[in-house]
Amino acid sequence: MSIRKLQKSVINLKEKNNVTILAHYYQNIEIQEIADYLGDSLGLSQIAHQKATTRYIIFAGVVFMAETASILNQDKHILVPERQACCPLADFLTPTIIKKFKQEYPSLPVVTYVNTTAAAKAESDVCCTSSNSINIVKKIKEEFEVTKILFGPDNNLAEYVAQNSGVEIVKIPGEGHCYVHSHLTLENIKGSQAAHPQAKVLVHPECIKEVREYADFVGSTAGMYNFVKENRDIYEEYIIGTEKGLLSRLSVDFPNNRFYLPSEKLVCMDMKKNELQNIKAILKHLDAEDYDKLKQFEIKVPADIAERALRPIKKMLEYSKKS
Ligand code: 13P
Ligand code: SF4
Repeated sequence: MSIRKLQKSVINLKEKNNVTILAHYYQNIEIQEIADYLGDSLGLSQIAHQKATTRYIIFAGVVFMAETASILNQDKHILVPERQACCPLADFLTPTIIKKFKQEYPSLPVVTYVNTTAAAKAESDVCCTSSNSINIVKKIKEEFEVTKILFGPDNNLAEYVAQNSGVEIVKIPGEGHCYVHSHLTLENIKGSQAAHPQAKVLVHPECIKEVREYADFVGSTAGMYNFVKENRDIYEEYIIGTEKGLLSRLSVDFPNNRFYLPSEKLVCMDMKKNELQNIKAILKHLDAEDYDKLKQFEIKVPADIAERALRPIKKMLEYSKKS
């Protein structure tokens, strides 16, 4: 079946069964196109919290994102096209590691990147995403009246936040990184610039320090998208230092601009495990009211963990509202 036909049958089944589909910018373009909402991790948690009103929500992203949606919507069914689509960065920070650091620094608040498991969030004071991390850290500093915090698991984001918030950071666990962004080198960027000297360089804060410091703009996926949207008439070309799904989106939405990927390694194999066929399979089970088969796609966080993880997620959403 062609992609177009497959997309059409997904849309028909989705509408017939009243399902909301959320997709991260790193999904393949054919999944982005059938989503009701597209966004970065902050945007999607806000949508899951406020706008996704259907009983069934399909989350095309990685599992920690679906867990966050499930924690925020415990009365709803959050379904993922592929349970193996996990974020290896999240696995760097276990609840045991957090507890160990808390023992060592009992007076310091714990700020965890949303790229963590629900069990790690349950041990945190507040969560943050790459969109709101600087703001959240500044607010938690005021709330706890501290000059230092515990932050994990991404090392590069931790450094970026420390540089831009003036808050001292103890990295937990110290070696956490994203295998996609941390492999982007300054040589990759300069190589791309040699071919496209007029291009503006946009990178994600999970990139290494020398790449971040060289870039014209550092921001989350939605931050990069908005940078292009606001500057598209001023700058024609952009080097996109993040997962290539964002480049696909930008190329479709801004056809008069040009976008370049500085490295072929900017592919998150985990995000790409989601396939349109699996989304259709979920919708067909729903259509057939085959709830047993649907269970294999459902992400449900155990109630005790969900209850404790809800607090830091809600605090993040509250803090983000006021900013
Ligand atoms: P965003 O916060 O930009 O959505 O990033 C999520 C992520 O997984 C980055 O690799
Ligand atoms: Fe995780 Fe990196 Fe993939 Fe984002 S791009 S989901 S941080 S592995």
